[in-house]
Amino acid sequence: MALIFGIESSCDETSIAIVENGEKIIAEKTASQIATHALYGGVVPEIASRHHLENIAPLVKMVMDESKVDPMDISAVAVTYGPGLAGPLLVGISYAKALSYAWKVPLIAVNHMLGHLNAVFLFDKSITLPCLVLMVSGAHTEILYMGSMFSYKIIGKSIDDAAGESFDKVARMLGLPYPGGPEIDRAARNGKAIYKFPQPKTKGKYDFSFSGLKTHVRYFLRDNEEVKVEDVAASFQETVTSLLVKKAVKAAKEYGVSHIVMAGGVAANSSLRKKAEEAQDEYGISFHFPPLKYCTDNAAMIAAAGWQYYKRGVFADLDLNAVPNLEVGK
Ligand code: KG4
Ligand code: ZN
Repeated sequence: MALIFGIESSCDETSIAIVENGEKIIAEKTASQIATHALYGGVVPEIASRHHLENIAPLVKMVMDESKVDPMDISAVAVTYGPGLAGPLLVGISYAKALSYAWKVPLIAVNHMLGHLNAVFLFDKSITLPCLVLMVSGAHTEILYMGSMFSYKIIGKSIDDAAGESFDKVARMLGLPYPGGPEIDRAARNGKAIYKFPQPKTKGKYDFSFSGLKTHVRYFLRDNEEVKVEDVAASFQETVTSLLVKKAVKAAKEYGVSHIVMAGGVAANSSLRKKAEEAQDEYGISFHFPPLKYCTDNAAMIAAAGWQYYKRGVFADLDLNAVPNLEVGK
């Protein structure tokens, strides 16, 4: 049995969790800074770092107290080392090093995107490999061919804005608060997708481009003052989610896989989930989503991913540094 202690602090959530063998959450606590950053319309890195510093020690204490786990029983400390914001990452990394040193257990450097993926594998044991992964977060939009837990090939990606970023930017144009994804999702429920926004074309058949769509919405709003925010939100969401599912299905057919794993914050989107469900019936492809709560950043997924490294004996040294631009699959 392995108890992995997970730490996540790459952006605006400070999160701590203990997960057993990558499948059982023993305890978890997350402090979200969303309300603070919403005042500025986005994450302010310096403020995020300061909040992580304030939050991390009390959260560790809460998790240890509530779980009643003896530090002697912890097998390893797993921490996100990238991608993410340098300052916030360093808070988690420094704390993880201190715990690993004090508890005399190995340190594991987890790629945050592998963490998002493990938010699905933590709960869903029906996925067979190889499969495709649609990674859709605030900074990433990729279609990956996943041969095994540590072997990926990027077969398509956004050439400009990430999917989540486009939700955030369009929400801002619509006067909705940060983070925009859940706000657009909510507004769209009271609207109709009556406007046909163009699905951006790309040279690579599995690539995405969201920056042109964002500009299109901007001009649309400038030229049409009477439109309902809810209808624009629904129309934008429809354009993005149908494109994401369409390309993922096309890639699955070409690569001959029948499972598609959806990971990252945008995987919480209700229209994306509905479209995936429809495609599942139509094409016989199984879509796998994380539970809603685990779509956005959390330490349970980092501890679950940490177990994958632990099983392979892949550990980090105490000179571990943050890698803000760490690529998926590295
Ligand atoms: O994975 P995540 O928590 O952080 C990163 O690693 O980037 O993803 C955050 C992104 C934000 O852009 C947020 O607006 C988006 O995920 N998001 C959503 C929804 N919930 C979060 N986008 C669309 N619909 C949602 N329901
Ligand atoms: Zn994330």
